[in-house]
Amino acid sequence: MTEPSAPPHLVASEPDPVLGYRAFTLGGFMFRRDEYFAHITWTTRDGRPLSHTIDVGNYLRALMRDVAWGFFYGWVNFDHVLGTVNHYKSVDLFAGSYNATMRAAGVDRLENFPTEQIGATFAAMLDDWTNEVFDPFAAPQETGTPYGRKRGSNTAKLTRARELATRCVGLRGDLPLRSDERAAPINRAFADVPQDQPELHPEPGFEDEVHAFNLFAFLSRSQVTWNPSFTSVVKYSFMCPTTEEHILPIVHGNDRVEWFLQLCDEIHWDCAHKETGKPLARVIMKAGDMAAMPAYCRHQGYSPKRSMLVVWENGSPTLVHEIQSGQAPEVPVEF
Ligand code: PHB
Ligand code: FE
Repeated sequence: MTEPSAPPHLVASEPDPVLGYRAFTLGGFMFRRDEYFAHITWTTRDGRPLSHTIDVGNYLRALMRDVAWGFFYGWVNFDHVLGTVNHYKSVDLFAGSYNATMRAAGVDRLENFPTEQIGATFAAMLDDWTNEVFDPFAAPQETGTPYGRKRGSNTAKLTRARELATRCVGLRGDLPLRSDERAAPINRAFADVPQDQPELHPEPGFEDEVHAFNLFAFLSRSQVTWNPSFTSVVKYSFMCPTTEEHILPIVHGNDRVEWFLQLCDEIHWDCAHKETGKPLARVIMKAGDMAAMPAYCRHQGYSPKRSMLVVWENGSPTLVHEIQSGQAPEVPVEF
């Protein structure tokens, strides 16, 4: 049923009398959860019903990113079957469409929705399905369990403001530096990271133009994992550092080139073709390594210890079309 007070287009059931969770319908897709799993069902291209099952912890971690990042750049694969493609005003929801085996079998489904509709449905599902002890942005060792019957909610942790600097973190009027006072204590893994700040001696009149800050100290105080923040923005050049631990909860499919700079410890990346899922490469990145992910790949990272990573994004709104039309390359450099 559609609730009277619900946002437009939100189709949710009454809570299950035993488990306590609602089921959600979006076009030809249906979503429900039980104690351990998210179950997604759809009607295939050739008209048959099909279902898919994802561990609910993995599902909620992926859903959290898709919601918080406004569907991100290009593809957000929850796993090898389910995902979204951002078209920046509308979003494709798909099952099996970028899985070569499922496409060949005709059992996939892809539907396009206005961003507002899929956004409202995903946000409501995330809120309903997340219990009070589970934080999908936290490292697995720093949060409670996602499993079991419905027990409270954790809305504050699901609606954290995204940290987006306009020019640079720490500049007057911009995103402030992290501190104990701002409820951003140093993470257990970064107790040894120096917290001193660089000295600044700008000429009078240039106090708002000359700037520097300690990025390692800033990252040592990140409360979340796999959640890039914008620390500096120069036109469409976005520096998005983040701290990582355990597994990137989505498999990101690029619609543009993206750069990685490993600042400490290491991340192992699985890279595959974004259309088919065919494996392409393993990339082992250690402190100081840089890599670029081409626009034709999908990738997922594994960070055995909490590590620091800079993701460098080109945020140009015309870039996707330039790549599609062949004006801009799919790779960062040709040898
Ligand atoms: C990525 O998809 O490139 C990505 C996303 C989130 C991160 C790091 C990398 O924290
Ligand atoms: Fe990526």
